Amino acid sequence: MRASVYVATSLDGFIARPDGSIDWLNEADELVPEGEDCGFRTFMDSVDVLIMGRKTFQQVLSFGQWPYGETPVVVLSHNSVEIPSHLPASVSCCSESPRVLLDRLSAQGAEHVYVDGGNTIHGFLAESLIDEITITRIPVAIGDGIPLFDPVGEDIKLTHLHTTAYDFGFVQTTYRVERNT
Ligand SMILES: NC(=O)c1ccc[n+]([C@@H]2O[C@H](COP(=O)([O-])OP(=O)(O)OC[C@H]3O[C@@H](n4cnc5c(N)ncnc54)[C@H](OP(=O)(O)O)[C@@H]3O)[C@@H](O)[C@H]2O)c1
Repeated sequence: MRASVYVATSLDGFIARPDGSIDWLNEADELVPEGEDCGFRTFMDSVDVLIMGRKTFQQVLSFGQWPYGETPVVVLSHNSVEIPSHLPASVSCCSESPRVLLDRLSAQGAEHVYVDGGNTIHGFLAESLIDEITITRIPVAIGDGIPLFDPVGEDIKLTHLHTTAYDFGFVQTTYRVERNT
């Protein structure tokens, strides 16, 4: 089982403003040429299950169109989450711990999971369950927000795998996470 993070951050390391808004990211997307997705489609094609936190789920619902097709999506919450009826049957919710959830998905045949959402990513990193992180840095500093890395967590050592600098200013880097033994 391989677990990955694929996320965009401001240059100062935030995935969203403190209130969860991503206006700065939507604005930056206007710089991106038609048809360019920075490899997101290829990444999604490699994903068996997307695990996302409840807050990210609610924000994605506000986008209108469901962006994940039939890819199985597990929404994490400590409470039951209402899954709108227009979403595919492959969308479910659970309150399992990261370790228990990964073991269940692995037993069900999943080989590659994508973990999304600030607090959710922090939880999986804290349990050393993330193998790879792809960060697309947006050329804007927003000063405050939800950090990609939990400010109170242990040091996380990473190994650089590759970087792509796009001529529209985005810089995308993939790292392997060195597991705490
Ligand atoms: N820049 C990007 O690429 C990017 C990507 C994704 C998201 N975002 C941003 O990230 C923000 C959301 O991040 P966030 O940190 O606020 O929240 P989040 O991680 O999306 O959701 C947090 C919630 O998920 C549930 N949860 C997480 N881990 C759990 C566990 N182990 N067991 C049970 N429930 C668990 C809890 O829900 P309950 O409170 O219901 O118990 C928790 O409050 C959004 O504003 C979105 O814009 C940005």
